[in-house]
Amino acid sequence: MIELQGVTKELSRGAERLKVLDSVDLEISEGSYVAIAGRSGSGKSTLLSIVGCVDTPTQGHYRLAGNDISGLPDAGLSRLRARHFGFIFQSFHLLPELTAEENVMAPMRYGPFPKAAWRGRARELLAQVGLQDRAEHKPYELSGGEQQRIAIARALANDPEVLLADEPTGNLDVTTRDSIVELLEAQHERGRTVVLVTHDAQLERRATTRYRLEDGRIRRQ
Ligand SMILES: Nc1ncnc2c1ncn2[C@@H]1O[C@H](COP(=O)(O)OP(=O)(O)OP(=O)(O)O)[C@@H](O)[C@H]1O
Ligand SMILES: [Mg+2]
Repeated sequence: MIELQGVTKELSRGAERLKVLDSVDLEISEGSYVAIAGRSGSGKSTLLSIVGCVDTPTQGHYRLAGNDISGLPDAGLSRLRARHFGFIFQSFHLLPELTAEENVMAPMRYGPFPKAAWRGRARELLAQVGLQDRAEHKPYELSGGEQQRIAIARALANDPEVLLADEPTGNLDVTTRDSIVELLEAQHERGRTVVLVTHDAQLERRATTRYRLEDGRIRRQ
């Protein structure tokens, strides 16, 4: 169970203070499939980053499985992130000097699988996203949609309880998109929690809970 209570995120842009998130209350129960929509700049990526312990709120509380993790130092947050979350970033964040396979393996050193299993697991995940023949390529040798699929495979590296995806189908053609939708649904069906930011109406409709962000305020649909 993920509980955000009164989460506010303020950022400074030049001289002005910007309230990107404004007292957001959000409960995400285990195994749910949550979609977050909203206009560009409404705070969706910021909210997802806070849920995934990549970013921290300026105010408010975050409870993960009943524990308040609001004041945790960076090292503690990194550990939680590696143990519980798989994150598909809007701009992928692949490591440019690593091959596709090495990118997928990168989070595994913080995860539950023994080292001997890493490469096989990476190959299997790349096959799941249809990129088994791109294992040795580096990000700059791959198309945007391929990079996105590597990012998806990497997010699944440690078989996370919670999968967070920021516009996971944004750069994909219809066929590839459908296979990614299936993959996300398969995660949901096996009991994983899935939280998506998406403009994709079809993907949004399949969610069990839908939210909308407007100027940093959240509303359940
Ligand atoms: N590091 C930063 N410094 C200052 N302002 C920021 C920073 N990151 C984001 N913002 C601002 O915060 C607001 C919310 O950004 P966010 O990326 O969460 O929006 P979003 O809903 O994900 O948008 P999109 O649909 O375009 O991805 C925007 O107005 C953005 O300009
Ligand atoms: Mg965004």
